[in-house]
Amino acid sequence: MSSSFLRAEKIGMRFGGLQVLSDIDLEIGERSLTAIIGPNGAGKSTFLNVLTGVLRPTEGVVAFRGQAIGGLPLHRIARLGIARKFQIPSIFSSLTVVENLQVARWGSARTEWPEDELLEMIGLRDRRSVQGAELAHGEKQWLEIGMAIASSPTLLLLDEPTAGMTPQETADTAALIHRLNKKLAVIAVEHDISFVRALGADTLVLHQGRFFRQGPFAEIEADEAVRDVYLGRR
Ligand SMILES: Nc1ncnc2c1ncn2[C@@H]1O[C@H](COP(=O)(O)OP(=O)(O)OP(=O)(O)O)[C@@H](O)[C@H]1O
Ligand SMILES: [Mg+2]
Repeated sequence: MSSSFLRAEKIGMRFGGLQVLSDIDLEIGERSLTAIIGPNGAGKSTFLNVLTGVLRPTEGVVAFRGQAIGGLPLHRIARLGIARKFQIPSIFSSLTVVENLQVARWGSARTEWPEDELLEMIGLRDRRSVQGAELAHGEKQWLEIGMAIASSPTLLLLDEPTAGMTPQETADTAALIHRLNKKLAVIAVEHDISFVRALGADTLVLHQGRFFRQGPFAEIEADEAVRDVYLGRR
């Protein structure tokens, strides 16, 4: 396998008797932006877990800069420069925004972005001294992204980053991801089509655990077959 940035080859994932992913290939470059979409149960979260190395696929290989990462312990994956934002809230409500970011940096061996730059990227510079508990839902999610990237990773993976957000927060999150993407590669799984449209990213469509389409979102959105699987007409 060549040492491209992130490469998934012939990925298959089976849980017991259930084949959740089959024969998926994906290759992305440094500072690339990728969206993964597909109907409920298509295997998007499972594929993201395979891409982060958290899940070892039952078939195929995922390599980050030429190194196979399937099943590596989380701290080793983090040390390679891969960050993942989880859905479960992990911010400390009694700490301020800036203190939360400081906690996230503890133990980080990597070169770090200056605090102000990090605050600017997540859009919380004016909220630096506000306690976690006082933040709006969207702001909490942005702080979580800030914590995930506090150790300056080169790849960030997000599963439904706009879940529960207002339309304005969703639009702000797309802008935030564009800012981040100037520094690092981002892969986002998302349901909200207005968000994916705002991202305007290279988009991978999964359907029933298989590769269905990949291309610029404008092309994907215009594709009749994609509309069909989304609207459940197949
Ligand atoms: N650990 C697991 N064990 C057994 N089955 C699983 C496991 N994880 C996921 N699945 C199954 O794999 C399929 C795909 O799930 P996955 O969560 O990846 O889909 P998804 O595309 O992220 O869906 P959603 O849009 O609802 O988030 C589902 O049928 C799910 O029940
Ligand atoms: Mg999911």
